[in-house]
Amino acid sequence: MEEKKEGFGSKIGFILAAAGSAVGLGNIWRFPYLAAKYGGGIFLLTYIVLVVTFGFTLMVTEISLGRKTGKSVIGAYKQADKRFGFLGPVAALVPFIITPYYCVIGGWVLKYLVTFVSGHATDSTSDEFFGGFISLPGQPTVYFLIYAALTALIVIFGVEKGIEKVSKILMPVLVALSIGIAVYTLTLPGAGEGLKYYVLPNFEGFTFSQFLKTVAGAMGQLFYSMSLAMGIMVTYGSYMRKQDSVEGSTRQISFFDTLIAFIAGLIIVPSVFIFSGGDASALNKGPSLMFVTLPKVFDSMKGGHIVGGAFFILVAFAALTSSVSLLETMVSIITEKFKLKRVASTVVCLLVVFVLGMLSVLGYSSWDSVTIFGMQFLDFFDFISNNIMMPIVALLTCILIGYIVKPKYIEEETTLNGEKFRSKGLYEVMVKYVCPVFMIIILLTPFFVEL
Ligand code: PHE
Repeated sequence: MEEKKEGFGSKIGFILAAAGSAVGLGNIWRFPYLAAKYGGGIFLLTYIVLVVTFGFTLMVTEISLGRKTGKSVIGAYKQADKRFGFLGPVAALVPFIITPYYCVIGGWVLKYLVTFVSGHATDSTSDEFFGGFISLPGQPTVYFLIYAALTALIVIFGVEKGIEKVSKILMPVLVALSIGIAVYTLTLPGAGEGLKYYVLPNFEGFTFSQFLKTVAGAMGQLFYSMSLAMGIMVTYGSYMRKQDSVEGSTRQISFFDTLIAFIAGLIIVPSVFIFSGGDASALNKGPSLMFVTLPKVFDSMKGGHIVGGAFFILVAFAALTSSVSLLETMVSIITEKFKLKRVASTVVCLLVVFVLGMLSVLGYSSWDSVTIFGMQFLDFFDFISNNIMMPIVALLTCILIGYIVKPKYIEEETTLNGEKFRSKGLYEVMVKYVCPVFMIIILLTPFFVEL
């Protein structure tokens, strides 16, 4: 990452890179299946409240910490306070867990892309297609390796900047196309029920344990989707220009990130009602939900295989900008720590990606009887990063800022360019009291309820 130390040349450069990291499979694949699983409207409402409170607080903190210290995550925490130096490596560990399974799912997207582009879209509409695909290790392994190799090539050749430029054009196209698909989906018979389920919170029979589950799920999703609590935004912050607004950029990134997740949900959740009647088992499909429902939407559409092909290409791009930011973080850590050359550290990181990624592939196929705490490997990696490691990083970050260096440390950075920190009151209450308490609740939740 050395060559980037001169910083982002423009405000839009920073926002694009940060948004490129944030917008990815988390928005399009992960958010809709969680919304379907955790009660639709209640999840959506909870998520939006968390974005403007927790998401805002943590993103402002991380970007400011990076820009103030001018260091990547490893150095930044150490500089803020020696005793919190260990937090850098802990945060840096998270991408090592996420990247492998992210590449496995990126591979699933490639499989659908190939299926649509090669004119076999209709095959993918049957319920058995996805199950058949992941239950044998061969194909998922091949697609996983292709996806990981693509990510690595971009990192090795240092062409992220080029990718960002392309995605500057492609992301608005993705938004426009998604809105079009959402409008189409909502005109299909049966969509009304699904729309109601997705946007209207229904508190009937809502229990405390469901509340805990929903908050824990939404919080994990928040970290994942906004690329928080793993040091990425700290590192990006260190490249940000001093004259740009931390608060304004945070708002723009969170708005864009949430908008894409919302639209993806608007397509996928109602589709469950249109094509599967919206019964509990259909809503609980988990990681496979997007792959099972989308082909049906495209199949019902005139020219749907073209729309579907275009959609999967755009999703693959969104995913690549995220996995590049993940792998880039891993590589810069290995380069720094072991004083290796960039290519050598990329190879080391790829090895980690391969081994852990294969566990995720095999966990759904040959080894599907092997579970850890009742979870398959992929689900376990997802759980341990989002529900355990990230809340720990967030909790300790809040303690560092709220009680050790004091919120003023961050507030100074947000007002550097002479602007007012408009949400100062909210920020202080969040970082000192609300965030730490909630993080402890999230960490304890798995001991009391089954997620
Ligand atoms: N935020 C990305 C997404 O929503 C995933 C990601 C997580 C990227 C962590 C970087 C770091 O897909």
